[in-house]
Amino acid sequence: MARYRGGLKVFAVVQQKGGVGKTTTSRNIGEYMARYRKVRVLLVDFDPQCNLSMRYLKMEKPNSNARMPPVHDDFDPAADYENGWTGRSSSASMFYDDVVLPYDTEIPGMDILPGDGKRLREAEMDKPAELERKIINRLYELLSDDDAQETYDFVVIDTGPNRLSLTQAALRAATHLLMPLQPEKMNTETLSDMIDLWREENTLRDPGGELKLVGIMPSLCRGTALHKGVIRSLRQDPGFGDLVTPFVINYRTVVAEADHESSKHSSVFDLPDSDPAKKEALTMCRFVEDAVFGDVTR
Ligand SMILES: Nc1ncnc2c1ncn2[C@@H]1O[C@H](COP(=O)(O)OP(=O)(O)OP(=O)(O)O)[C@@H](O)[C@H]1O
Ligand SMILES: [Mg+2]
Repeated sequence: MARYRGGLKVFAVVQQKGGVGKTTTSRNIGEYMARYRKVRVLLVDFDPQCNLSMRYLKMEKPNSNARMPPVHDDFDPAADYENGWTGRSSSASMFYDDVVLPYDTEIPGMDILPGDGKRLREAEMDKPAELERKIINRLYELLSDDDAQETYDFVVIDTGPNRLSLTQAALRAATHLLMPLQPEKMNTETLSDMIDLWREENTLRDPGGELKLVGIMPSLCRGTALHKGVIRSLRQDPGFGDLVTPFVINYRTVVAEADHESSKHSSVFDLPDSDPAKKEALTMCRFVEDAVFGDVTR
């Protein structure tokens, strides 16, 4: 049985190590699908750091370590909302039976359900087993709804650097998975934990609805002998070597600088076609598109 009746594809980017390119990959694949393939995209920010949300919305900072979404454009302060809605919606809203209403981004055809740092951290904190199970199942239930399936074709979930309940919720909802991995020895040692998480999730799936691992993607590669050596031994690993993507994402200054406000471009796709960072992003996106949609959108 397929994961979703309407054929919705849900793509989760996970890796417990921080700063390996999860958020960058999430935005690139979302923008590619919306801009080049005219696929209706929903980004879901499941990381309390809210880095993905900050790229598309003017996130507010009520205190020094948490961001929250702005008041939604559709909110009318004069209206008397039955559900007591106060105008903000985030990916955490689904855990509090609150209004779940994605925001527009500047990219036509791409919406975002932003994070809310404080409430996502609360949802992630230690809970009784029953409550934790509810959290892990919640996004899957929400996306199984006809509404979601009629509105979107492709959902991208960005997750935080851990294997806690929000990452598990992303895996539960996903049809496809990508694991960016910076080729350092220490990171490859923890990779098997992530692979175990993927395999465990599949023990719970019905035949036909398995979670597919699109690949383990070497990222932020610097072309050093050390990085090359680690990538070579990854590819030769008898356990997961054939899961490593045939391409790598190299460290590119232009990508690192895009996060800075003085940057001339905000998207890798605004760079000239000849730019290596854009070429690499397109290679990654086409690979994911093939894995997720096969011939469907071509
Ligand atoms: N190919 C690249 N070349 C250079 N810098 C990159 C590249 N990809 C991402 N970066 C930069 O590296 C940093 C970490 O990337 P990113 O935020 O995507 O990682 P992450 O895995 O989402 O991190 P976290 O685990 O903290 O959420 C960011 O400043 C980003 O701009
Ligand atoms: Mg991130």
